[in-house]
Amino acid sequence: MTCKEGNFNFKDKTVVVTGSSRGLGKEIALAFSKAGANLVLGSRSLDQLHRVAEEIKKEGGRALPLEVDVTDRESVKAFADKAWEEFGRVDVLINNAGVIYRAPATELSEEQWDETIDINLKGTFLCSQAVGQKMVETGSGKIISIASDKAFVGYPGRAAYCASKGGIVMLTKALAVEWAPYNVHVNAVAPTYVETEMTRDILNDPENYREITRAIPMNRVSKPHELFGAIMLLASDASSFITGHILMVDGGLTAW
Ligand SMILES: NC(=O)c1ccc[n+]([C@@H]2O[C@H](COP(=O)([O-])OP(=O)(O)OC[C@H]3O[C@@H](n4cnc5c(N)ncnc54)[C@H](OP(=O)(O)O)[C@@H]3O)[C@@H](O)[C@H]2O)c1
Repeated sequence: MTCKEGNFNFKDKTVVVTGSSRGLGKEIALAFSKAGANLVLGSRSLDQLHRVAEEIKKEGGRALPLEVDVTDRESVKAFADKAWEEFGRVDVLINNAGVIYRAPATELSEEQWDETIDINLKGTFLCSQAVGQKMVETGSGKIISIASDKAFVGYPGRAAYCASKGGIVMLTKALAVEWAPYNVHVNAVAPTYVETEMTRDILNDPENYREITRAIPMNRVSKPHELFGAIMLLASDASSFITGHILMVDGGLTAW
């Protein structure tokens, strides 16, 4: 393992990032590309993925944009198959695709509940299964899912989201135990608020921002790049004896 400019080196490794058309997923993909990896970019918006792939190519990297709906088993299988066909291997899967609805539990619709669980939890399972099958066969791989502080602390108006992210925590542990004998590591990162499109409206409201950051000992939210160290650690050989772990990146929120 080598370390260059503060990043781990992923030269010739293939990293698949779901939900990489924007936000955190896009930033994670760019960071892995800078660290030398070949990228497979997945989301429902192929046009946006092409733009991210262009950015990567301009910097001298290699990226394959592929349309995928993580809630659809056939779509996920085709996505995983194409990733393997293009690069001959997948070393790292980042389960990042996610959605949030903010509504009181008394008003949350069944459709909103189903969509949240389908994208966040079932999507994480389907992608882990499709990519993990080949990792198990080849005897190596790293799967990292983006959970949330809301997997550990209840939050008003986030019933489906909290449930979906809590599910990711236990799915991570279950897969870690099952696939440890095959040298497939399954871990998760649990951020608190990160500045992305998903949170822009909420964080732009000064009163909301004050209330949110009051609960965070570091008294601020995070920027996407502040997750890279945790993700790269779990994706690299440096974490060769770490599996089933949920790494909090929450400015101390869950340490109170
Ligand atoms: N931002 C935060 O404060 C924060 C905090 C903790 C955890 N997280 C988690 O971090 C992850 C990324 O969040 P973000 O803030 O970057 O959100 P975002 O800007 O809204 O991006 C979400 C991504 O998920 C993709 N996606 C949604 N549904 C999909 C589906 N069915 N199939 C494939 N891709 C799908 C979207 O792409 P398309 O619309 O193009 O399909 C998009 O690329 C999520 O899992 C989120 O829960 C975020």
